[in-house]
Amino acid sequence: MIEIKNVSKSYKKGNKVIDNLSLKIENGEIFGFIGLNGAGKTTTIKMMTGILEIDEGEIYIEGKNIEKAPVEAKKMFGFVPDSPDMFLKLRGIEYLNFIADTYKVSTEERKERIEALANEFGMLEELNNKIESYSHGMRQKIVIIGALLHNPKNLILDEPITGLDPKSSYDLKNIIREYAKKGNTVFFSTHILEIAENLCDKVGIINKGKLIFVGSMEELKRKFPNKKNLEEIFIDIIK
Ligand SMILES: Nc1ncnc2c1ncn2[C@@H]1O[C@H](COP(=O)(O)OP(=O)(O)OP(=O)(O)O)[C@@H](O)[C@H]1O
Ligand SMILES: [Mg+2]
Repeated sequence: MIEIKNVSKSYKKGNKVIDNLSLKIENGEIFGFIGLNGAGKTTTIKMMTGILEIDEGEIYIEGKNIEKAPVEAKKMFGFVPDSPDMFLKLRGIEYLNFIADTYKVSTEERKERIEALANEFGMLEELNNKIESYSHGMRQKIVIIGALLHNPKNLILDEPITGLDPKSSYDLKNIIREYAKKGNTVFFSTHILEIAENLCDKVGIINKGKLIFVGSMEELKRKFPNKKNLEEIFIDIIK
């Protein structure tokens, strides 16, 4: 469960890029955070994951306050940042073992999970190669595998589908669905409206730092009965 309570953030004084944002994502829900470039998605995610300080308000992951109990809160989620270009000098398997060590995943469990996840993403053959030799999509996949290794109750992903080929994007969507079915929570940002429509139980639309809609896709469509599709609704409400 993820709770964002009245959160605001400015990078420059007097210029709020997140303005009094509140959201609650229940266990088992897949939540899509939608907005244009610069709307404030990554800033929100960085506050949720303890990378950026929160100016006003509070964020709780599984009831743990990300600023007051950061270690406890961080154990409760897996995170896929918007850029997977990190630890490039490590081999895939070294990176995964490093993550497993950090989250104290037992030798037996990590072996089993790495094998299953790498197999699902077609990455088994790549694990002994250095991450710097991976394509963008392969780097994305290794980070996603790492985020799932400790079997967190919450998964937070910033634009996870960008750069994945159709097969990997299909696989990731299935993994997300399966994962949420077990009662886990998924929070991800996307520009791709179709993905939000196919995958999410609930969406939040953010525009210039303000949440302008939150609810199911059905509720969104009901609110705009004259609009043909999601794209039209989206373009209309972010005006
Ligand atoms: N480090 C920073 N310093 C100053 N301003 C920043 C910084 N990072 C982001 N911003 C500003 O904050 C606002 C929100 O940016 P953010 O990266 O959160 O948007 P986003 O919704 O993730 O966009 P995108 O879809 O392009 O990833 C933008 O106006 C951006 O210019
Ligand atoms: Mg972003």
